[in-house]
Amino acid sequence: MSNINSSFNHKKYRAYPSIPKTDRRWPDQSIKAAPLWCSVDLRDGNQALIEPMSPSQKLDMFKLLVDVGFKEIEVGFPAASAPDFDFVRQLIEQDLIPDDVTIQVLTQAREPLIARSFAALKGAKKAIVHLYNSTSTVQREQVFKKSRDEIKTLAIQGARWMQEFAAAQSETKWSFQYSPESFTGTEREYALEVCNAVINVWQPTPDNKVIINLPSTVETSTPNVYADQIEWICDNISHRQSVSISLHTHNDRGCGVAASELGVLAGADRIEGTLLGNGERTGNMDIVTMAMNIYSQGIDPKLDFSDMDRIIATIERCTQLAVHPRHPYAGELVFAAFSGSHQDAINKCMAIDAAQRIEKPETQWQVAYLPIDPRDLGRTYQQVIRINSQSGKGGVAYILEQDYGIQMPRWMQVDFSPHVQQHAERSESEVSATIIHDIFSSTYLAAQKTASIDNYQLNRQSNADSLEAQILDTNNGAVTINGQGKGVLDAFVKGLSASIGSDIVLIDYSEHALPSKKGAENEQAEAIAYVQLSVQGARYCAAAKCHDIVTASLQAVLNAVTRSGATCQRSKAELAAV
Ligand code: KIV
Ligand code: ZN
Repeated sequence: MSNINSSFNHKKYRAYPSIPKTDRRWPDQSIKAAPLWCSVDLRDGNQALIEPMSPSQKLDMFKLLVDVGFKEIEVGFPAASAPDFDFVRQLIEQDLIPDDVTIQVLTQAREPLIARSFAALKGAKKAIVHLYNSTSTVQREQVFKKSRDEIKTLAIQGARWMQEFAAAQSETKWSFQYSPESFTGTEREYALEVCNAVINVWQPTPDNKVIINLPSTVETSTPNVYADQIEWICDNISHRQSVSISLHTHNDRGCGVAASELGVLAGADRIEGTLLGNGERTGNMDIVTMAMNIYSQGIDPKLDFSDMDRIIATIERCTQLAVHPRHPYAGELVFAAFSGSHQDAINKCMAIDAAQRIEKPETQWQVAYLPIDPRDLGRTYQQVIRINSQSGKGGVAYILEQDYGIQMPRWMQVDFSPHVQQHAERSESEVSATIIHDIFSSTYLAAQKTASIDNYQLNRQSNADSLEAQILDTNNGAVTINGQGKGVLDAFVKGLSASIGSDIVLIDYSEHALPSKKGAENEQAEAIAYVQLSVQGARYCAAAKCHDIVTASLQAVLNAVTRSGATCQRSKAELAAV
């Protein structure tokens, strides 16, 4: 390929080095319990927005995070932003923080900023103060122009100031967190040295742990390398029993969730992230995805996403970012099936699941193409089967049954599907349930407008039934059909054959009661009849609805005949009487 854009040159980059490790244990682990979650929507997420959240949006987001079940919430960067400071004050002064929730604020390692952070937290029952400074090679050398020791001293100094300010506000139960920002861009021995130096200042105990947060500030390696780094830190950090190892991954390579998952296998205790992954550049690790991945393995994620629509609406309102329709678990299309074979498989599995669940409510979910039950997230089956030109008869039949109670027999599904497909191809768009119903009505019921059963008299006898039916035909006026046969339909078909002057054969027949319409409980239920006839060798399907099942059956037969183009002729006696 010719190089049109000379800047597109992979030689500008180099591979992230792998970690030489001979004691790698994390690949043999599995996640057995949810980590401790910390939402950073109101800080990292908010910092990354084109328009940061308004005070009322922040409050909406905070309430959502509490309702979802977060016990630790980073509520802002009060030393860097006046609105964040005011928001923290509002939460404390208006007593909006539930007793089992701890708020967290971020601060840089500078005394006035730490002072302001503690001022923001005045009066809080408990709080986490999150100290960070960047330790990466590129930041040290090119941004700060400081040595390793100078950067480490900054972290140690920050840790000491935090201790002093905390001691002066002893009414609050304090927890401390330290992040070597750009941990994955930092030489790992040096990152460990800085973390150990901070831990040494804070002197944690198993009852009063500190949090060491290891950010993949910019994701630059495959998740296995990150897992190696985490396992190595867990093995070498001082006071391990008194330290909660926290992960904070970003999604630059699209592997933020994978990195956090592997990091948990490697020993991490706590995970920071945002709902649906908002955050700097490609975003933070998406907690919805990671928690739902855990849920789908039969493990309690300790977060409740059963009202996914509220979560999406709140996130979209607060971030002004639309959720992608294919976003894992949350997107509008993630449980939708358009393909006929997928719809068919889903229908069959869901029918089995429904039957088994009546017997055994704890039945394991095993539905093709649906990793979890959409109802768990407040989604309905109606949202699963969607119809376009790729869809098959099963999906169309499913929609008509779910939304209109029409249980088309299989032979009619085969006949009907091409009608919907043609419409989808012509319109080049999805076909709604209403349109499918309209196509059903115009294909199978509309013939009644041309010729309809006015009334009938049936005389049942032991050897044969006689039927006399009056038809109102828009072309020929009133026509009487007389026939004899084994049963009412046979008699009618014979009478019609004589009237139209060609052979009619009844091939298939089916009927059922329709569910009563909403708000019309006392009304007599309608029945629907479906028929397939052969008229002069060609097949025609039709249907008809009526409160009287015999009329519905006769009308369905008449509709099929009308669809064939044949018309009933008046008898000689009728013509003579005119
Ligand atoms: O991504 C990052 O490194 C951060 C730190 C401040 C924790 O957001
Ligand atoms: Zn971050």
